[in-house]
Amino acid sequence: METESIIKKYDLEDDNIVDNTIRPETISEYIGQNDVKENIKVFVEAAKMRNEPLDHVLLYGPPGLGKTTLAFIIAHELGTKIKTASGPSIEKSGDLAAVLSTLDPGDVLFIDEIHRMPRYIEEILYAAMEDFSLEIIIGSEGNSRNIKIDLPPFTLVGATTRAGDISAPLRDRFGIVSKLQYYSIDELKSIIKRTAHVLQAEITDEAALELAKRSRGTPRIANRLFKRVRDFAMVKGNGLIDIDITKNALDKLKIDSLGLDYTDHELLLAIINKFNGGPVGIEALSSSIGEEITTIEDVYEPYLLQMGLLKRTSRGRVVTDKAYDLLGIVPKERK
Ligand SMILES: Nc1ncnc2c1ncn2[C@@H]1O[C@H](COP(=O)(O)OP(=O)(O)OP(=O)(O)O)[C@@H](O)[C@H]1O
Ligand SMILES: [Mg+2]
Repeated sequence: METESIIKKYDLEDDNIVDNTIRPETISEYIGQNDVKENIKVFVEAAKMRNEPLDHVLLYGPPGLGKTTLAFIIAHELGTKIKTASGPSIEKSGDLAAVLSTLDPGDVLFIDEIHRMPRYIEEILYAAMEDFSLEIIIGSEGNSRNIKIDLPPFTLVGATTRAGDISAPLRDRFGIVSKLQYYSIDELKSIIKRTAHVLQAEITDEAALELAKRSRGTPRIANRLFKRVRDFAMVKGNGLIDIDITKNALDKLKIDSLGLDYTDHELLLAIINKFNGGPVGIEALSSSIGEEITTIEDVYEPYLLQMGLLKRTSRGRVVTDKAYDLLGIVPKERK
């Protein structure tokens, strides 16, 4: 369906086999995020020299920028195993105990969507992070007792798209806090060329650049667009991904010159047409386009803000002149 949002479709498809083959495994294969990478290299090296576990790491930033990938790379560089869990799946203290008890000394525990962990689990995690011990209550009411379990030293790597939703005490217990940034066009181009190479597809420089420009600064989107364009090249051409095939496919996918998709346009158009360009509150905007507030805030807005198409003011969201120009609409006061 053409009107469906590409970003959401992408998230659902994320864990397929192709994604695992194109995911970089070592830090040298991880393109971009140079500051984060340099720091992590130093901290990993130092931890190995001291024979201590790496300090706990918090990775945050918009979806698809490589948080999960980096967590796996950290374990790889440390030469340890990684165990994974996600915030919402840890409901009871027993769930946390179960994951923690599988760790060997020095292992990485990756908790994705760490902002969605229940608050009281967070509190149990504090002690686990600080002195590698776990205090849990077992038994039922009236017949319960506290037990303390010693844990092997481990490294917690937490990932979140919403750093603001993490309580201060939890955030303070991470020794390393890194924010991932949107990728430059050059970096995305390298990622696309690397993906093409891994998947043994041929892509011209020009086509890789075009795809990079339309990938919203996001490797996940770059890879997904690449795969769709590769489909077009195979079916409509001879397999070579050139600029014509690429432009044609991207038009069919309704990705505009900045990489904005249907929902981005819908969002900007709603503010222009229904709210006179803004300011509009997030609740009103959310019900107007039928997208969750968190989806707007985490997925759509950051890139629109970054591109200068949208502004956040104390009274709400406002579209900018650049957005009017992009959509070919003349603002009322300019007419
Ligand atoms: N720096 C990078 N170099 C090359 N490829 C990358 C890089 N970062 C991410 N990718 C690719 O993008 C895909 C998405 O990355 P990843 O799943 O790590 O994002 P994420 O930040 O964890 O997203 P989410 O917030 O949705 O969990 C990966 O499968 C990987 O192939
Ligand atoms: Mg992830």
